[in-house]
Amino acid sequence: MAKILLTGATGYIGSHTWLALLAAGFDVVGVDDFSNSSPEVLNRLRELSAQAPVFVRADVNDAAAMDAVFAEHRVAAVVHFAAFKAVGESTAEPLKYYANNLGGLIGTCAAMRRHGVKALVFSSSATVYGEPQFLPYTEAHPLAAMNVYGRTKLMGEQILRDLEAADSSWNFAWLRYFNPVGAHESGRIGEDPRGIPNNLMPYVQQVAVGRREFLSVFGGDYDTPDGTGVRDYLHVMDLAEGHVAAVRYLLEAQRSVTVNLGTGVGVSVLELLKAFEAACGHALPYRIVDRRAGDLPSYYADASLARKLLGWQARRGLQQMCDDSWRWQQANPDGYGASAEVQA
Ligand code: UFG
Repeated sequence: MAKILLTGATGYIGSHTWLALLAAGFDVVGVDDFSNSSPEVLNRLRELSAQAPVFVRADVNDAAAMDAVFAEHRVAAVVHFAAFKAVGESTAEPLKYYANNLGGLIGTCAAMRRHGVKALVFSSSATVYGEPQFLPYTEAHPLAAMNVYGRTKLMGEQILRDLEAADSSWNFAWLRYFNPVGAHESGRIGEDPRGIPNNLMPYVQQVAVGRREFLSVFGGDYDTPDGTGVRDYLHVMDLAEGHVAAVRYLLEAQRSVTVNLGTGVGVSVLELLKAFEAACGHALPYRIVDRRAGDLPSYYADASLARKLLGWQARRGLQQMCDDSWRWQQANPDGYGASAEVQA
């Protein structure tokens, strides 16, 4: 079976995709520098897959380390997750974001080219669409990122389009994720953000487990059914399976593809909170506060192209997203924290 290289392999989406690829029969080699993930993930992957994960600790910009990976492993395609993703931090530290997100992408592609590997799946984001001109967003929606993080994704897409224009033997899958949430159904791997969570679901999880006092709902006066922000939340295992479908497409059709990965369903902050209360079995305190600067009122995907081209669609609903997030958070109230220290 084909071997797939994952960069950012021990991160939230990387670790779930790793399992999905193994379940689909692919071989996987993972690379991560642990700059925003825990080595404990590898123990969990070993347990869940009943095999030792093939892993190299390296920065994708370390050309010698990447050359060694490609020399040792016959890689058919790369899934490039390695990137920073905090919108607020990206505004405060643009150089850090451009250097890591674009430098890492260029370093990865340069290593691939040295070794004749020319199929890459790129983690892009719905954020590249910017202010909605129409909803749901289709892949043809105009592109206009609204912050530094979003611009690293938009520029990353462009770099790869330029590479394909210069050498048509490259094939890319540009996957525009909506809002990934949830955890593997085992509850053994999940999202473990460092510090105070920026995103809704991890924050709600921490309120549910008692690590935070209440949820601040950013804005209650948007032009949405209940006044709170609406997003297209997507179960991380559905997202992981979307990557498997994209890898298959690259290897079989040998063509590039740009698709949204979402459910097509918009869910408000208060709807998500209610579903999480049903999952954890108790009320979750919240306060409506001011809007967060830069947030859009509402957006969701037209997910039909991924279905048509990749044969992929999201299968897991909001309640399962919350149930699986809760299973993970309840069993690991401090994330990977304690076990990671033991290993280090
Ligand atoms: N929200 C709260 N309270 C919180 C956190 C979030 O009310 O503590 C609200 C937000 O205002 C928004 C919704 O919950 O209405 C979702 O917010 P997230 O921060 O979870 O997600 P965003 O949609 O803002 O951003 C996400 C990713 C970005 C990515 C973007 C792409 O975090 O990396 O989707 O569409 F760029």
